[in-house]
Amino acid sequence: MTHPRTLSDIPTPALIVDVPAMERNIRRMAEFFAAGACRLRPHFKAHKTLEIARRQLAAGSCTGLTCATVAEAEAASDFCDDILIANQVIGPDKTARVAALAKRTDVKIAADSVYGLEEMAAAAQRAGVTVGIVIDVNVGMPRCGVAPGEEALALARRAAGLSGLRLRGVMGYEGHVVAIEDRGEREARARKAMERLLTSAQMMREAGLACDIVSAGGTGTYDITGRVEGVTEVQAGSYVLMDTAYAKLDIPFEKAFSVLGTVLSRPAPGLCVTDSGHKACTQDHGNPAVKDAPGASVLFLSDEHASIAIPPDSPVRPGDRIQLWPSHTDPTINLHDVLYALEGETVVGVWPVTARGYAEQRHG
Ligand SMILES: Cc1ncc(COP(=O)(O)O)c(C=O)c1O
Repeated sequence: MTHPRTLSDIPTPALIVDVPAMERNIRRMAEFFAAGACRLRPHFKAHKTLEIARRQLAAGSCTGLTCATVAEAEAASDFCDDILIANQVIGPDKTARVAALAKRTDVKIAADSVYGLEEMAAAAQRAGVTVGIVIDVNVGMPRCGVAPGEEALALARRAAGLSGLRLRGVMGYEGHVVAIEDRGEREARARKAMERLLTSAQMMREAGLACDIVSAGGTGTYDITGRVEGVTEVQAGSYVLMDTAYAKLDIPFEKAFSVLGTVLSRPAPGLCVTDSGHKACTQDHGNPAVKDAPGASVLFLSDEHASIAIPPDSPVRPGDRIQLWPSHTDPTINLHDVLYALEGETVVGVWPVTARGYAEQRHG
């Protein structure tokens, strides 16, 4: 099938990627990690797109990839032999798939319960493989993770004692601080979170347990967490394409993707309506911003429409194209089958969002 050749040929709504900007983001991040001991483990969930992940790994300074789901790990395993599923894997179907993956790649999963460990161990024993375990430590975000210290140590001992598992270390995602705009506060709170993680790692080592991996961090803390001594890898993902929420922070990454829409209607001088509603662009971190249109702002998104306030003397008319900058990368990308890769106005690729949605549903 032939693909659109220029920006104006792309059917809307569509996701478009500014490839040179994306490449600059990839390079900046790789250079940061090349200058220190800590490595980058880019989070695949941000874009779920093989073409982008390959470029991140090729830029260097990476240990492998972070994934959120088993389906992402399956997709990534075609070209990456070091994968961390930074999440609990629960359910016999999922643990069996992780065990199958372990036959062809070095896969590690996060665990915060004996239940999770035992289920994974049973699946690994059935498949005759060994699966890596990182103990998920709660470093302050009210999500998964065992309490730092004794609780983390007790779970690590259990992991070390189960056949089919190999204890590799700890992870602790400081998601409660990554978006704090004030740099001083973000830094202080990220460091506090890392103390909890590093104390747990130290207790494990003192007890004679393995702890080679200390994994943490996101786009908002990459240069804080990534310079804390003892943290071995950072799981940042959004930096590669960026969104308006992260663009508020003092970090050196460019907004490299947008949602392209077509103006359907100009019902009033101060209003235009495009076809890029919230089935094409998430709103979970707020309305998207309007790119290259001074004085324009999104009023609201409906299913298939974006209602955009524009200056009454704006020449915008039906058929024009308008780009929106999403407030949140991951859930926006997940809405689309493909990304249109652009250099200037030329389409240089159409990249499938391979691991989008619940990819397992497509396997029947
Ligand atoms: C476990 C985990 N690690 C790292 C990240 C970092 O992602 P981002 O680059 O979007 O900050 C996330 C994001 O939600 C996450 O859930």
